[in-house]
Amino acid sequence: MEVVTGVDRIRSIVAAAKAKGRVVGVVPTMGFFHRGHLELMRVAREECDLVVVTLFVNPAQFGPGEDLDDYPRDFENDRRLADEAGVDYLFSPPREEMYPEGFCTAVKVEGLSSVMCGESRPCHFGGVATVVATLFNTVPAQRAYFGEKDAQQLVIIRRMAKDLDFPVEIVGVPTVREPDGLAMSSRNAYLSEEERKAASVLHSALQVAARLIDEGEASAFRIEDAMREVVEREPLVRLEYISICDNIYLSPLQELSGEVLVALAARLGKARLIDNMLFRVNW
Ligand code: PAF
Repeated sequence: MEVVTGVDRIRSIVAAAKAKGRVVGVVPTMGFFHRGHLELMRVAREECDLVVVTLFVNPAQFGPGEDLDDYPRDFENDRRLADEAGVDYLFSPPREEMYPEGFCTAVKVEGLSSVMCGESRPCHFGGVATVVATLFNTVPAQRAYFGEKDAQQLVIIRRMAKDLDFPVEIVGVPTVREPDGLAMSSRNAYLSEEERKAASVLHSALQVAARLIDEGEASAFRIEDAMREVVEREPLVRLEYISICDNIYLSPLQELSGEVLVALAARLGKARLIDNMLFRVNW
């Protein structure tokens, strides 16, 4: 595996591969790899001839007072893990390659970016959309892999790719979980031992939603109420939101039907955790 830091170099590598008829997959990340990232790389490796993983802790998606400086980083370990996963190129640009002097363009996906996580992180999805759009131009792969754990991010990236006509297929990869159900996340590193135990309550709440939906419960209000009760039993967890919405416009639902996203966010100590499940409701 080669580590590439320059935009021109990675662009020419991808262009040369595509000119030979090869399918290129890109896995955008901010590093500190865990099994969730490795699963994205595994799926990309299975489906593509050439796999590029991007590693860039994007300052534009962190708001004032957020964890940009503390965001966990371990480049050597990431390099080893990506290599072992069979990645061809690790694109790890310095900040000035992604945001050269004078950079002043922003991509904003209206509406979708201001609900759910966007309420407490108003700058976040603009920063994500801008860097992902830039990465799609820098690494013009035919397929791009994102975790379903970041469900709102995935909805926004799909919307942006469609609206701006990026010729890339967005592939969502199922969430990888710890044995107690906690979704893998780089931010789990912030949790103390006690908080780590408490964190599984997010998954427990989603399981309650899954059971109710399986039993035919169609009222979003009743499902949310039952989830809230589960989360509130855990005093270390401060629930930020529960959203029961459709998976394209993120519009809140009253009665469940079609593809339903059940998502939640909560704070535990220094960490802000999110999780979700997707349901196909046919009644
Ligand atoms: O999901 C992430 O790790 C980041 O938001 C992404 C998509 C790499 C953009 O910086």
